[in-house]
Amino acid sequence: MVIVEGTTVGHKNQYNRYVTRKPHYIAIAAVTLDGKIGANEKHFSNWTSKEDKKFMRALLDTCDVIIVGNNTYKTALKPLSKRNCIVLTRSIKTTKKVSEKLLYLNTRSANLKKTIQKTGYKKIAVLGGAQTYSYCLEHGMLDDLYLTIEPVIFGSGVPLFAGKFKLRKTKILSVKKLNKTGTLLVHSVFRQT
Ligand SMILES: NC(=O)c1ccc[n+]([C@@H]2O[C@H](COP(=O)([O-])OP(=O)(O)OC[C@H]3O[C@@H](n4cnc5c(N)ncnc54)[C@H](OP(=O)(O)O)[C@@H]3O)[C@@H](O)[C@H]2O)c1
Repeated sequence: MVIVEGTTVGHKNQYNRYVTRKPHYIAIAAVTLDGKIGANEKHFSNWTSKEDKKFMRALLDTCDVIIVGNNTYKTALKPLSKRNCIVLTRSIKTTKKVSEKLLYLNTRSANLKKTIQKTGYKKIAVLGGAQTYSYCLEHGMLDDLYLTIEPVIFGSGVPLFAGKFKLRKTKILSVKKLNKTGTLLVHSVFRQT
């Protein structure tokens, strides 16, 4: 991956540190202290702090498109309908373009990576949920992870990543406290193998 640091293109803000020749994939997620992203697959993320929401919106504003699973898309239709989205679903054969902003795609028969390369999207937000984070991790489509840790506990629920895969090493680049209750923002990068 070619990374030129200190250059800004497009939206000029603190998150746009990279100029990449190939698409750059950024996972954005919030977890509880016990590592869950939701209490169940239909759970809307209304439990995160306002500081996390502000951070997430600002980061999404710098991205060209969002990859999101159909379960998560259904829980957040209203906010996501304003943004370019590729929604993963097995309920269609290959791809279905619903509008300028919305494409449904089935990875069993359509190549997600190639679709993104063809469209020319350069900065891609991977917004989950667990199945979608896992698919992107397993297919070399995760470069950075912005993980917010909220000081709440669910006990049971949906983990950040689902399924079994080999050990992945990441490097934590920064940790920042976002508010007085101790919400933490961890920025880590994946080593592509
Ligand atoms: N806290 C956070 O940061 C955060 C972020 C995102 C989501 N969440 C939470 O995560 C939960 C949902 O997670 P989840 O893992 O159940 O669902 P998900 O990844 O959002 O969606 C799963 C669905 O996406 C489709 N899908 C997944 N992988 C696919 C593939 N490779 N090819 C084609 N279609 C694919 C399937 O849809 P069909 O059934 O239509 O075939 C599948 O049922 C919710 O509670 C949500 O609130 C939390």
